[in-house]
Amino acid sequence: EKGGYEHFMLKEIYEQPSVIKDTYRGRLHANEGIIQMSGVEDNLEKFMNAERIIIIACGTSWHAGLVAEYVFEEFTRIPVEVEYASEFRYRNPIITAKDVVIAISQSGETADTMAAIKLAKEKGAFVYGVCNVVGSSISRETHAGSHTHAGPEIGVASTKAFTTQITVLTMIALRLAKAKGTMSNTDFHRYLLELELIPEKVKEALDTNDKAKEIAAVFKNSNNCLYLGRGYNFPVALEGALKLKEISYIHAEGYPAAEMKHGPIALIDKYMPVVVIAPKLGHYDKIVSNIQEIKSRSGIIIAVVTKGDTQVRELADYVIEIPETSDALSPLITTIPLQLLSYHIAVMRGCNVDQPRNLAKSVTVE
Ligand code: F6R
Repeated sequence: EKGGYEHFMLKEIYEQPSVIKDTYRGRLHANEGIIQMSGVEDNLEKFMNAERIIIIACGTSWHAGLVAEYVFEEFTRIPVEVEYASEFRYRNPIITAKDVVIAISQSGETADTMAAIKLAKEKGAFVYGVCNVVGSSISRETHAGSHTHAGPEIGVASTKAFTTQITVLTMIALRLAKAKGTMSNTDFHRYLLELELIPEKVKEALDTNDKAKEIAAVFKNSNNCLYLGRGYNFPVALEGALKLKEISYIHAEGYPAAEMKHGPIALIDKYMPVVVIAPKLGHYDKIVSNIQEIKSRSGIIIAVVTKGDTQVRELADYVIEIPETSDALSPLITTIPLQLLSYHIAVMRGCNVDQPRNLAKSVTVE
């Protein structure tokens, strides 16, 4: 049932090209220039009138929410806030009937997310669910929603749920951008075509597996690791660090690259591997100077770069090449080698990859 893979996690990483396709199938019609999701169509007025979107989630789903914040604000110009479900409910949040709340949950059973949804409903907000498990508590409790079609995710560390969540959220943002007129028709069509190409590019990104394994062998005994990214790839840095922590038990932190100089740079020495997400289209020059700052303090750079990159290659100790896509869609690609890197490090350390210590697949306690 692991389909020939050694672990569920690896199988699920490799399923991403097909489940991303499953997630946009019937919804994305790139050639016709149409995005159609029944949950959004049926509630278009609510989304159109939203003064604010509040995204609530936990863990990896929260990271997908952070990516969505950047995408929604850029595409739709609706202000977005992303909150940990647990913090949201314990701080008497300001929320009204003019807010749209999007709750993201793979399992649809996370207790903190559920409680936050109930609170938002009490305050009169319209609550939209993005869940993977059909018939789950959260998909029933929300007013409407769109499922991700990732299929069962067995590995405790979330992988394909993350990329399919981003796929759904990006489609919602595009649909609203079209309705609101906040994106030009040309850009809209371009994004639709780009999105349709993502599964092929994810497949290509999976070819970094051997490279990830080679790098994993070098760093498997590290005690710490930093992950840096900017813009759309800042949440990917957080997610990369979470994956490493969860399954390999190596302490890891994700940071927006520019925050380095405000503290974490003190940690840099020749024993500190720093994974830098540095695609060509995302604040590239800024990232290059962040890399220089780390190099001049003897840090070791593992860079995720766009195929054909030369500038970062000269500075980095290790490079992982991924195919190019637009900046806003790049998290769907950049996250792939980071999943593989964590996976191989954990396997080499002899960790139980599919069932890491102390973790459960759905966290049904508050
Ligand atoms: C990370 C992970 C957890 C979950 C979090 C939310 O790999 O598995 O951080 O993302 O517990 O779970 P869901 O999405 O089911 O609400």
